[in-house]
Amino acid sequence: MRAVRRDLLTALRRTPSFIHIRSLAHQSRRTLSSATTSQAADTSHSSVNPDEIAHFSRLSSMWWDERGEFGLLHKMNPVRMQFIRDKVLEIMRDDEGELSAERERNVLQGLDVLDVGCGGGLLCESLARQGGNTLGIDASASNITIASLHASSDPALRFSDSGPSASSSSHTKGGQLRYEHTSVEALLAREGPRRFDVVCSMEVLEHVDNPRQFLQHCAELVKPGGHLFLSTISRTPLAYLLTIFAAEHLLRLVTPGTHTYAKYVKPAELLGFFQAYRSPPSPSTSTTLSTPTPSTSAESAADATRPWISRLYGGVPARTEAETRGIVYVPWNGEWTLVPRGAPGKECAEAVNYLFWVRRPRED
Ligand SMILES: C[S@@+](CC[C@H](N)C(=O)[O-])C[C@H]1O[C@@H](n2cnc3c(N)ncnc32)[C@H](O)[C@@H]1O
Repeated sequence: MRAVRRDLLTALRRTPSFIHIRSLAHQSRRTLSSATTSQAADTSHSSVNPDEIAHFSRLSSMWWDERGEFGLLHKMNPVRMQFIRDKVLEIMRDDEGELSAERERNVLQGLDVLDVGCGGGLLCESLARQGGNTLGIDASASNITIASLHASSDPALRFSDSGPSASSSSHTKGGQLRYEHTSVEALLAREGPRRFDVVCSMEVLEHVDNPRQFLQHCAELVKPGGHLFLSTISRTPLAYLLTIFAAEHLLRLVTPGTHTYAKYVKPAELLGFFQAYRSPPSPSTSTTLSTPTPSTSAESAADATRPWISRLYGGVPARTEAETRGIVYVPWNGEWTLVPRGAPGKECAEAVNYLFWVRRPRED
């Protein structure tokens, strides 16, 4: 046993990315912390890293092979859907009181949903089945082709390949589903802000350039009172060991080179980002002489410009503003587990993969 551990450590030390962990980690810290210091949107930098997109394009034919390259994401899907469902329902109950059985069943019914970096559409199909009018976007054209092909072959999905207003079969339940080959910055530039009730971006943040702009653009697309869901990997030695050394090099569960340690983001860094992040004010929330009810609009303006996370309580945000939850892969069950809220050892549970939710402040 001791020998195995020694071999593992020796192999680990020889891995180039391990040798550079310290300098890379330092570099990554700078990337996201500088992101929190200034609010000026710098749209001159794309979030799209051509090498990352080429990597995922090469793998695109494998998206729907549940035992292949993306097997772990297939297994992760129910857990992230559970998190999305539970969180949206929780906030709806806070806002509206008891919900109808229909709403409980189809939690996203009638909501506009965006999935940024949708890959082959694993999450998008589930979002549409929950009733969301879902748009999946990806910077890889071949991923969008695969996602569209898969959705079009399922008559239970209201898939449209010709834009949001296309007619869809009335005998199928669920929301409309469509895909587009584009980036979040291009979508924001074209559509404008405040378009979606729910914006998701799962396992994408650790693959983008300019993560600050990426987060800002995702956030700007959320409607007031709406939700932003992310999942990513924390920048810890344990995450390096499991997601790069073991998953890529030792077990070959995913193609070597899929992950870059320096791009991993810690939960505290995401929380810090949204403690500093304020929605850009909209014309309707600015107090002008023509505003009929000055006190109400002053409150609205304050809500619009307050940070998305007002404060942390021992490192944890208010459950109505944001939440981080660890997700842990249990190999002997072949399943991911969503660590319960309030479970002991929160930091440990979030040391590798985790989910993140934040709500855009309401303005009414
Ligand atoms: C690990 S996959 C995750 C796919 C999907 N979200 C899921 O979890 O099933 C990362 C995806 O993000 C896409 N991607 C990477 N950078 C992107 C960017 N800047 N804008 C849009 N998509 C991006 C890649 O093409 C790839 O499909």
